Amino acid sequence: MYICVCRAITDHDIRRAVANGARTMRELRLHLGVCSSCGRCGPEAREILTEACASISATAVYIDLPAMEPARARQSA
Ligand code: FES
Repeated sequence: MYICVCRAITDHDIRRAVANGARTMRELRLHLGVCSSCGRCGPEAREILTEACASISATAVYIDLPAMEPARARQSA
């Protein structure tokens, strides 16, 4: 669904931006252009942003890190 008609930005665009790290309206404005013209999309964009951020923080994220090498003792010269 289109949220920002001026910039043709959908709710999916906003959710994708949140998945890619956006957390504030300022970041959405910078990266997507949301709310950068008439401003009517602001309240709904903020609502979707809040919902998407809450959804991400409620989801556990597991990162498979490679095994680290044991720290080597520093050799003094
Ligand atoms: S509807 Fe988003 S700036 Fe106009």
